[in-house]
Amino acid sequence: MDLDSPSILDERLLSCLAKEPPDIGVLWEICSHFEWLNREKTIDDIASWLGPADGLKILDCACGSGFPAIDLAARGYDVTSSDGSLLMLEHFRRNARREGMDIQPAHVRWDELSAHHGEAAFDVVMCRGCSLLYAGTWDDNRPPDRTMLTAAIREFVACVRPGGRLYVDVSSAESLESLEPQWTRRPGLTVGGHSIGLREVVTNHPDRGIRIWRSWLDIDGVTYEFERRSHYLPHDELVDLLADAGLVDIREEKMQSEHYEVFAGKRPD
Ligand SMILES: C[S@@+](CC[C@H](N)C(=O)[O-])C[C@H]1O[C@@H](n2cnc3c(N)ncnc32)[C@H](O)[C@@H]1O
Repeated sequence: MDLDSPSILDERLLSCLAKEPPDIGVLWEICSHFEWLNREKTIDDIASWLGPADGLKILDCACGSGFPAIDLAARGYDVTSSDGSLLMLEHFRRNARREGMDIQPAHVRWDELSAHHGEAAFDVVMCRGCSLLYAGTWDDNRPPDRTMLTAAIREFVACVRPGGRLYVDVSSAESLESLEPQWTRRPGLTVGGHSIGLREVVTNHPDRGIRIWRSWLDIDGVTYEFERRSHYLPHDELVDLLADAGLVDIREEKMQSEHYEVFAGKRPD
């Protein structure tokens, strides 16, 4: 299956538009559409980082609307999927059905991760899509609380078996540097007779430890506005948090096709 073929991309967008009014999951599906340099290549890169599927137990603890959990499962990986947002899980289920995959994601917040999935139960825990930065803020745009970030990483690590690995991604170093609003105006799209437009602006507030993402989604001439605060987390602070949680061999993984910057670490044997 060519995940990047126009018909599959259109189909994916069209099915998410059925959700009215559009929620944060619809916005995320549309943003992802634009952010993919090449979705299939990104899965190739993640699969190559993971290694062979044989016997590897993976937890995608921020499975959201399904990337990369559904795509990895389609390639034969043993992926357990969970997320803290019921709304995002509705999008996951729709996408999984559309791909013909029978996957039941679990509704689990990060603070209950090891209690739900079991301590040291996975070879790899993944938290992809800049999700970590939304610890405690994704559902209701609550002001970021730094303790949620530390607690989330500790729970991720608790689920990794000794010798296993954690995969987490964050915003690029470049986008963290600017104090100016960073605007992105996406090209207009027409899908199944619907017109879609998207403008986004991200503003860093390092002094307050926050980053604000505002978006205006236009669907058939109606504008829907969204705002999400997230943690402002420079890469060196992320590395410190991963080390404090007990990981070793922490490194930035260069993944050319990935929109975000990926960091990985290993739980000591
Ligand atoms: C930006 S989306 C990324 C989704 C998906 N991994 C992707 O790459 O498309 C962030 C996801 O993190 C989840 N999330 C944020 N905070 C969470 C928490 N405390 N517990 C569990 N999930 C959380 C959200 O519900 C959302 O689905």
